[in-house]
Amino acid sequence: MKQGGTKLKGKRAPNKTAAPAESLTANPANSGEYERAESAAQFIFSSTPLRPKIALVLGSGLGPFADEFKQASKIPYARIPHFPQSTAIGHAGQLVVGKVGDIAVAGMQGRVHLYEGYSAKEVSFPIRVFARMGVKAVILTNAAGGIKFVQGRLVVIRDHINLQGVNPLTGFNDERFGPRFPDMSSAYDKRFREMAVGQGNRLGIGIDEGVYAALTGPGYETPAEIRYLRTIGADLVGMSTVPEVIAARHSDMRVLGISCVTNAAAGILDQPLNHREVLETAARVKGDFIALLKALLPKIEESIAPTAKN
Ligand code: HPA
Repeated sequence: MKQGGTKLKGKRAPNKTAAPAESLTANPANSGEYERAESAAQFIFSSTPLRPKIALVLGSGLGPFADEFKQASKIPYARIPHFPQSTAIGHAGQLVVGKVGDIAVAGMQGRVHLYEGYSAKEVSFPIRVFARMGVKAVILTNAAGGIKFVQGRLVVIRDHINLQGVNPLTGFNDERFGPRFPDMSSAYDKRFREMAVGQGNRLGIGIDEGVYAALTGPGYETPAEIRYLRTIGADLVGMSTVPEVIAARHSDMRVLGISCVTNAAAGILDQPLNHREVLETAARVKGDFIALLKALLPKIEESIAPTAKN
């Protein structure tokens, strides 16, 4: 999706000739993000009778979870108006709306990343669509390099450090999504984090909490960068999630982030990093990850029910 709402053809990433910055700030009528999100939401609603209040973004290797949804409507991103299209290996590129038990959910099989050439607004557009669909809770999953954690661990994200140099909220602020200066002091819902740790322990899956640093990639970090990240308080490093969290919090959706540590971050072990290892570890941990998500969904649903306190 480009600035004027032009649809992408095929799986090609957009070129970076976005509209000049002043067109975003000076002329609110030119933004149109809200209307684009609304038309995508209406399209999704026309494809399924379900009205999910929980959405999941399934990162590297976790997409198969959505294949288990019952009463599923599978909607390729290419068919959803204005939706960006995934080019990364391991990301199928469809939205699956269905049921896990009796809970309606929307699951993204794959996401797009800044490193594919998309802007932060494009990366977070699906979250805007969830906001227009009335989604109340977003579960974001990803693969990450472990700074403090070893390969194979599942880690609940407690907080993040945005080192991507961009923010999806720059430019014109549409108050219908949220305020100009949204609070980020509790971006990752405390109650959700407690639930995730609790359910992880109950299932016998060791689960930790940590701070996720987001860089753009696509090159992995250097050992010196990892030492720097450790010094500034990062426990995990990855190339996604943060723009989506910012957009979700802007619209007051509650967020749970979970990373699968697919590899030790650069320089920790005396070996090079590669994407194959990332996918292999994600595939190995998938069973535990899915079990955790299944255990969490009823708790999250209860927590977002209109009568619940939190
Ligand atoms: N660095 C950045 N992103 C990642 C890594 C990593 O080591 N592993 C999986 N995603």
